[in-house]
Amino acid sequence: MQNSHSSDPESELLVNGRALRLQVPPAMPLLWALRDVAKLTGTKYGCGVGLCGACTVHLDGRAVRSCVTPVSGAVGKQLTTIEGVGADALGKQEQQAWRELDVPQCGYCQPGQIMAATALLRATPRPSDSEIEDAMSGNICRCGTYQRIRAAIRRVAGGGTP
Ligand code: FES
Ligand code: FES
Repeated sequence: MQNSHSSDPESELLVNGRALRLQVPPAMPLLWALRDVAKLTGTKYGCGVGLCGACTVHLDGRAVRSCVTPVSGAVGKQLTTIEGVGADALGKQEQQAWRELDVPQCGYCQPGQIMAATALLRATPRPSDSEIEDAMSGNICRCGTYQRIRAAIRRVAGGGTP
């Protein structure tokens, strides 16, 4: 894992609506910068190679894997993490549906699931089952909460019904 040094350049990121200056190598994975430097630990480390979705955040509203996105790739964009996703109505509805349907089991994958689901519903407010499948199939849940995740997405998309 790369560490930050005082000789590193400063990168200014816009994280959850706030400017954040980080002195880290520009090539450092965004996930490391968020968790280890900014101490925003809601975004989780799963595989580290873009295959599990645990580290999903939004850049300009689109879901990206922060483990394979360099810090430099987030400069000049709106970066949203699980800590900030509830700031707007859609993110709030997602979190509420997750609570109402008791979606999480161990919970580890769920920040990434919520981020992926929110990006899906922002782009496609009424997704078909196959669009939900396409958008969510890269987010792994070792506890197998897939049915509840998809029910929560359908509940938000349908305005309250599962
Ligand atoms: S930790 Fe980033 S996709 Fe698995
Ligand atoms: S709730 Fe445990 S990995 Fe998804």
